[in-house]
Amino acid sequence: YLLSAHGADVVVLEAERTAAGITKNTTAKITSQHSLIYDELIKAFGGEKTAMYAAANEQAVCQYRKMVRENKIDCDFEDTSAFVYTKDDPDKIEREVRAAQSLGIEACVASDTELPFPVAAAAQFNNQAQFNPLKFIKEISKNLTIYEQTMAKQIEDRTVFTDHAKVHADKIIVATHYPFINAPGYYFLRLYQQRSYVLALKNAAKLSGMYIDADTDSGYSLRSYGDYLLFGGEGHKTGKNHGGGHYERLANAAKAYYPQAEVCYKWSAQDCMSLDAVPYIGQYSTSTPDLLVATGFNKWGMTGSMAAAMILTDSITGTYNPNQEIFSPQRFQITASVKTLAQNTLEAAKGLSRTALHIPGTAAADIPAGHGGIVTFEGHKFGVYKSENGELFVVDPKCTHLGCELAWNPDELSWDCPCHGSRFDYKGNLIDNPAMKGLSYNEEYGKTIL
Ligand code: FES
Repeated sequence: YLLSAHGADVVVLEAERTAAGITKNTTAKITSQHSLIYDELIKAFGGEKTAMYAAANEQAVCQYRKMVRENKIDCDFEDTSAFVYTKDDPDKIEREVRAAQSLGIEACVASDTELPFPVAAAAQFNNQAQFNPLKFIKEISKNLTIYEQTMAKQIEDRTVFTDHAKVHADKIIVATHYPFINAPGYYFLRLYQQRSYVLALKNAAKLSGMYIDADTDSGYSLRSYGDYLLFGGEGHKTGKNHGGGHYERLANAAKAYYPQAEVCYKWSAQDCMSLDAVPYIGQYSTSTPDLLVATGFNKWGMTGSMAAAMILTDSITGTYNPNQEIFSPQRFQITASVKTLAQNTLEAAKGLSRTALHIPGTAAADIPAGHGGIVTFEGHKFGVYKSENGELFVVDPKCTHLGCELAWNPDELSWDCPCHGSRFDYKGNLIDNPAMKGLSYNEEYGKTIL
């Protein structure tokens, strides 16, 4: 949209339907408040670069507001404040507020919140917003050239290959959630994925602000949308959901805080996480000047994607963008990234070696109805899901991205990859990339291993 507004000739290749991916599953908070981040970023990157992060995200909030108002887009856009709260340590909130203020963000410590439980302290950022991203995208995509059901399969120099046609371009942006080209770039070594869950509650008290727990892995995210309260949480790394029960635990917490409320809808989201909490926006790799990327929005995709759109538009139109440096995919911040890097590369290595070395002993008969697992039969591994009526669905449990062994996700009846987060349904159809194709699925296997 922004490139078109600059007069560029733009084509969007969309693997599915417009906005059919993670965008529709977010809570759509438009905010520069990304839980507790600024105090940490200043320690890792210094004040000057962290100010670029703050400015890019604050400008993204303003850009949404400008586009919605100028084009009179009906997308339930509301100006509001964002709060990050803690139940235990008020000091970390005070440090965050001081850090944000030092970067020019209008922030303060809030003494009171609308939450149904006591908090020790909360950081309040003013002039933020919330909206419905699908209504927004519907409007801004109206006059764009978009080819839906057209998956980009390969890119060579300045040509994108699809099953139907080739597209030649001066510049190509890979905006596929998780980048699908493994080399160069090697994003699979510096990007992992996380899942989280959301309930839409009716008859819960309406909130005027947007809230998130400072402990984003175990705490809750709350915002109102019309008559509903969006209540989210229960995050975990993709492929790490052996026990399941995330929706149930979330529903129990909602019931405790809002006893009158009723769960009307539930859904889940998947987020690409970078190693140092900063997205990768810019040149895909040092050797590809005409190939650009936007990924790793770390659960803050509304402002992250708009910041990316502004930075990449400036890059392509030859305009200097003062915020671009901190987002460069070519950065290497060892101090900031080393902790997560060690943990996640270890995780990926474990997944890869399991494929070659580990032989689990589970048998198909041991899998209860409604559950899935890995079965070994005559030296071969099978991913098996047994439906409630006992029907077996069997797939090859080897991820089609780089071959890691998949793990069963009991909450969503899917095969999830612990290495880089690709997901497949129980029949083997692809749900989330970076994998590009589904698993092989053979009904005959089911009969073979019974
Ligand atoms: Fe990379 Fe599965 S997503 S091996």
